[in-house]
Amino acid sequence: MRVLSGIQPTGRLHLGNHLGAIRQFVDLQSRAECLFCVVDLHAMTLDWDPEALRADTLQIAALYLACGIDPERSIVFVQSHVPQHCELSWLLGCLAGFGELSRMTQFKDKSRGRESVPFGLFAYPVLMAADILAYRATAVPVGDDQRQHLELTRDLALRFNARFGETFPVPEAFIGKVGARVMSLQNPSDKMSKSAVDPAGRIELLDPPDVVRAKVRRAVTDSGREVRHNPETKPAVSNLLEIFSLVSGEEMSTLEARYGDSGYGRFKADLGEALVAFLAPIQQRCGELRAAPDHLAAVLRQGAERATALAEPTLRDVRARMGLVAGG
Ligand code: TRP
Repeated sequence: MRVLSGIQPTGRLHLGNHLGAIRQFVDLQSRAECLFCVVDLHAMTLDWDPEALRADTLQIAALYLACGIDPERSIVFVQSHVPQHCELSWLLGCLAGFGELSRMTQFKDKSRGRESVPFGLFAYPVLMAADILAYRATAVPVGDDQRQHLELTRDLALRFNARFGETFPVPEAFIGKVGARVMSLQNPSDKMSKSAVDPAGRIELLDPPDVVRAKVRRAVTDSGREVRHNPETKPAVSNLLEIFSLVSGEEMSTLEARYGDSGYGRFKADLGEALVAFLAPIQQRCGELRAAPDHLAAVLRQGAERATALAEPTLRDVRARMGLVAGG
């Protein structure tokens, strides 16, 4: 199994990114050959600010490592450092259809109401296919919202293989176990989101302790006083209980027994402390990495070298099969 996944450097990472995605990446490291990239080129498909993009790219790389991704075991790199992604994106784009790309729901959502739609937004799923296929990855951990993009990747792999001969394995989506779907603290029917304007709904991984405590205190709850796990009748409290269980490692039943009748106040105070304790080592490690930019740059350079060593043979094969003249 070869795993590849990526996170876009847009905005700051939050608890949902950690518990839903990064934690799973960390687990996968012991079972598979893993590549994790910061997909900076994808962050340019809608309006972006150059300074923010640069800062966010380094922040995500530091957080990957701070959350437990080990650059000795996994390949950690920045997408734009490996030009093979763009090259393969062009080559696959010549096999992709205008119709199928127009039907992508993310494209439709993000282009709606815009006077001018960037080509990059339209090409986004082809670049994502290139990210995956350049490494002949077989398993792709993604959220539900990326299923359709992965389906397109599979179609492009099959199409390439049918026309030019067996080249790419057809990658599978690797959807995380349930329970790691962290919802907004302000609206428990929506996922915790990094793009929501109001930061009160999310716990950012780098939120200082007092901000974490205040966000938990202000989190919405449900009617009644009992602290019980029942997503149907108590969606807000159930989300808080799930977060508590995930960050403390305690069973849901233990937490229900301890807090069931104690009222929301004590429950929230303890959850705030559990979160602060969970985030402390991540924040400390991230701070150390940001204070040593040369070290982080060296890790990313080594990651890009190892990634290039895997991608270039694929590209050589693809160029030849598609009829490009060798040499150059
Ligand atoms: N589109 C993905 C997202 O928004 C990010 C991404 C880019 C990605 N390339 C990838 C994920 C390749 C997995 C594999 O979540």
